Amino acid sequence: MSLRRAFLALLVGARLVTSAPTQATTQACTDINNALPGKVLTPGLLALEYEFETQKYWSTTLRSVDPACIVQPVSAEDVSAVVRILNTYPTVNFATRSGGHDPNVGHATVQDGVLITMTDLAGATYDAAKQVAYVKPGGEWNDVVGDLEPSGVTITGGRLGLVGVGGYLLQGGISFLSSQEGLAADNIIGWETVVANGSIVNVDATTSPDLAQAMRGSGSQFGIVTRYTVKVHPIGDVWGGFCAYDSSQSDKLYALLHTFIKDGAQDPKAAIIFSDLVAVGGLGTKLLYYFYDGPARPTSGPFADFFSVPGLICAPKTQKYSELLKSNGEPARLLNSRVSFRTYTLPYIPSRPQMYSEIRAKLAEIATPFLTLLRPTSQFSVDFQPLPTLIGKISESKGGNAMGLTSSDPDRIILEVQGSWSSASDDAVGYGLSKQLTDWLEEQVPKWLDEAGISRDVYLPLFMNDAAGDQPVTQSYKDYEKFKALQRQIDPNGLFSTRAGGFKY
Ligand SMILES: Cc1cc2nc3c(=O)[nH]c(=O)nc-3n(C[C@H](O)[C@H](O)[C@H](O)COP(=O)(O)OP(=O)(O)OC[C@H]3O[C@@H](n4cnc5c(N)ncnc54)[C@H](O)[C@@H]3O)c2cc1C
Ligand SMILES: *[C@@H]1O[C@H](CO)[C@@H](O)[C@H](O)[C@H]1NC(C)=O
Repeated sequence: MSLRRAFLALLVGARLVTSAPTQATTQACTDINNALPGKVLTPGLLALEYEFETQKYWSTTLRSVDPACIVQPVSAEDVSAVVRILNTYPTVNFATRSGGHDPNVGHATVQDGVLITMTDLAGATYDAAKQVAYVKPGGEWNDVVGDLEPSGVTITGGRLGLVGVGGYLLQGGISFLSSQEGLAADNIIGWETVVANGSIVNVDATTSPDLAQAMRGSGSQFGIVTRYTVKVHPIGDVWGGFCAYDSSQSDKLYALLHTFIKDGAQDPKAAIIFSDLVAVGGLGTKLLYYFYDGPARPTSGPFADFFSVPGLICAPKTQKYSELLKSNGEPARLLNSRVSFRTYTLPYIPSRPQMYSEIRAKLAEIATPFLTLLRPTSQFSVDFQPLPTLIGKISESKGGNAMGLTSSDPDRIILEVQGSWSSASDDAVGYGLSKQLTDWLEEQVPKWLDEAGISRDVYLPLFMNDAAGDQPVTQSYKDYEKFKALQRQIDPNGLFSTRAGGFKY
């Protein structure tokens, strides 16, 4: 690292890293710069835009990674030029970043390699004749929803507006609209993709159904997507927002959650996220995000029953969809922490309504020794996200996804275990705590199934968008072998499978 670089890094508050791109990487960056003048950023004196790009990650852990150069393509042709150059430098690593919300190190980041960012490829347009939206991978859901809202449509997408678009759509996507439309990825019918040999391929669900199925939940393994063609969903005013509850309401809320997982989909316009937090000293808060696809919520049924429980703060109201997503997301923007994600797919066990409180108690037991006054802003949480059979039925009817959801699947719950802390010295312990919880679940769930008289071979694929980098996500998919063969066919030299990060086949 040059003195100038060190000075600049101090100036902008970035962490000092001893950076050493290989000669081949430096040469690749030069070639890319020659091919795409004005679109390549390198570190150096007053490289403020470079520094700014390196800070565009949600988890602060990723903000100290320094690529050798950053490319900001404005078209599929630009991306194609980059991929062709990367093919001539077989030792150079690279990464693609859209929103930068995946907290896993090395997925949308690359130390000393080539980072391709979608910063200048963002936004959505509506094609009324075809009833589709053309969506670019950069930016955030606030942008996509805002661009489409004046036309009275939206697409099945993020529940918190600040979240990135490109990675979300490639890794599946649970949405407030999922009980009506399936996973976000189920609604994609076209992918403008730069494949490993640098060709721009328009993957089309009608002409290549297997590849389309693979694209719905395989992440970054098939190419760099520069545009998605997505079926739209009509949207007007919606009802929603979040409520926070203290632990005195826990029993009531868990009972309502248990009922909602089984019966909530009877009204597919209703959706919830049930977020169970453990803060310093083991203190518990529950944050429930409510959504109803209409201007007024129903007054009876499993969704309405939640509103008889008094919240500490409770803000749901009738509003524009864009306003709801924005207000859901803004608090998460301020988190400013090192973050870990980890997931687990739970079966719904009718005879075990105590399962949610058991999981919350276990998380508190594991995390409380860490959550002392030494780490005042740290917290751990587990989100219970209902995945009713109905969603699999819709996925199947729309051509299927990589996760392999079908109508013959049981009701399930996707867990998202999140941890946050501020110091790098806590990384090893922090990641380990979430793993302790999923390790414990791997032991408990078979026992719980036995006790309930339910077969152990219930299909429980992991959900990529919420997973930790070390979790065997694609290996949990029932069509793993089929997609692995397809991946090898399209990427025979391992450009994506060996030189970029992310979940692999
Ligand atoms: C606050 C918060 C709320 C969330 N809420 C939800 C939710 O409601 N539902 C849900 O399903 N998930 C949710 N997530 C998870 C989220 O979907 C993932 O973090 C997702 O990866 C975000 O997309 P991104 O564009 O920011 O991805 P990035 O971090 O940019 O990238 C993720 C992965 O995708 C690859 N990738 C990105 N863009 C491309 C591209 N154009 N072509 C090829 N590969 C690419 C990257 O290389 C990387 O491996 C949430 C996350 C956060 C932080
Ligand atoms: C590039 O790869 C795609 C996808 O496998 C293939 O269809 C195309 O023919 C390849 N192009 C060249 C020039 O090899």
